[in-house]
Amino acid sequence: MKIFVINGPNRSGKTTLMKTMLGLREPEIYGADTLESINAELAGYCRTVGVQPEFFQSNSEGELIDFIHSARGNADGIVLNAGAYTHYSIAIRDAIAAVELPCVEVHLSNVHKREEFRHKSVLSAVCTGVICGFGKHVYRLAIDALNSI
Ligand code: DQA
Repeated sequence: MKIFVINGPNRSGKTTLMKTMLGLREPEIYGADTLESINAELAGYCRTVGVQPEFFQSNSEGELIDFIHSARGNADGIVLNAGAYTHYSIAIRDAIAAVELPCVEVHLSNVHKREEFRHKSVLSAVCTGVICGFGKHVYRLAIDALNSI
């Protein structure tokens, strides 16, 4: 089973400083792990459960949409943390709907415990399910979910 693990803005980036963005950014909310270390740990877990992950991160909405499109025919499912785009990107929502693959929306933080603008997701209605609030474990839980359906 091949799963695309996609991360949106403000967790990594092209400059050296931005590469560790996730570990630096509000660690009391998002944890101290970098995206690179989360992905490395997840890759190890995927090996134990027979899943082949492909990782992608972009700060750009268009690049995220292009990568979601590429899942059609190339992946069996998607794990997506679209970051702040979750709350307003109809374009990402339409991309998820278009590829017709199981997709798990994940968030490190429990968005429902936070500011009101984070309570609404425009993506959830086209996702198979949503997992949030368990820090880096949300990615592993999403892999297990896709592996179980
Ligand atoms: C997030 C929650 C979003 O509201 C926020 O904009 C993020 C991270 C999370 O993983 O908790 O960038 O998706």
